[in-house]
Amino acid sequence: MRIAICPGSFDPVTLGHLDIVRRASQLFDLVIVAVTVNPNKIPTFSAEKRVELIRRCIQTMPNVEVDCCDGLLADYAKQKNACALVKGLRAVTDFEYEFQMALINKELNPELETVFMTTSSEYMYLSSSAVRQVAGYGGDISKFVPKQILQDVAERFCIERNDTV
Ligand code: PNS
Repeated sequence: MRIAICPGSFDPVTLGHLDIVRRASQLFDLVIVAVTVNPNKIPTFSAEKRVELIRRCIQTMPNVEVDCCDGLLADYAKQKNACALVKGLRAVTDFEYEFQMALINKELNPELETVFMTTSSEYMYLSSSAVRQVAGYGGDISKFVPKQILQDVAERFCIERNDTV
């Protein structure tokens, strides 16, 4: 069984992320979406909430699971018997950082391949930080996040705006 991991912060998950996950699910037997915990970043959504939001969006993808990873991805991949990490690449600006991570992960776990998938052109501009920024100003994010999580994301930022008034 060929298992791949789609890792990321997913703070929150976007239509661009889900496009990569869906396409990866057509190439591998099982795809694990791994929500990573970065101790240096304070996320908008807790890891548990990010997992819950993603779970709602993958209902129609039978060979996709979601999980939380709070250690090194290279170790997590070993533990899950995964053969590949799948990363979406939006532009050359993503490449340098992703290339470095791929090489580090290869050093840490030589059996693990990193597979780069080109983002679909309609999502090239999309990132979680752009979603957070638009939502933070009360803008319309319906073209950026799946409808299953739209209300939760918008409400989270609505609460934040009301807190700061
Ligand atoms: O969505 P992001 O924040 O761009 O994802 C970055 C991510 C989660 C893939 C990266 O931070 C990561 O790999 N974190 C897990 C910890 C780890 O294994 N670090 C060493 C990789 S070089």
